[in-house]
Amino acid sequence: MDVDSEHTFYKVCREEEIQENEGKLVHAGTKKLALFLVEGQYYCIQNFCPHAGGFLALGPVEGFIVRCPRHAWGFDMRSGACKTNPRYEANCYPVKTQDGEIWVGLPNSTDPL
Ligand code: FES
Repeated sequence: MDVDSEHTFYKVCREEEIQENEGKLVHAGTKKLALFLVEGQYYCIQNFCPHAGGFLALGPVEGFIVRCPRHAWGFDMRSGACKTNPRYEANCYPVKTQDGEIWVGLPNSTDPL
């Protein structure tokens, strides 16, 4: 665990454990998250689809869009924006690497505002 002023970072896996253009389910604290590697950059969003709970880590990746395996809604892994229904959005989490390990940051504040 590594803490800065805004996030607590959790080590989630090693870099060789994730394949380009595929999702990987990871755990940070008590949260289940979907980690992606696209064009050499890591992205992390919530695993449970905000529509009806599909597992985004299992969805096909098309560029920076991951499609939910349940109803195929597309989410931009860079922003969390839903491309299918703009009223929905997935939470995004910062990712950093150190010594071959991948770390994901959860916000220190749980204030919903
Ligand atoms: S549960 Fe993800 S699009 Fe419906």
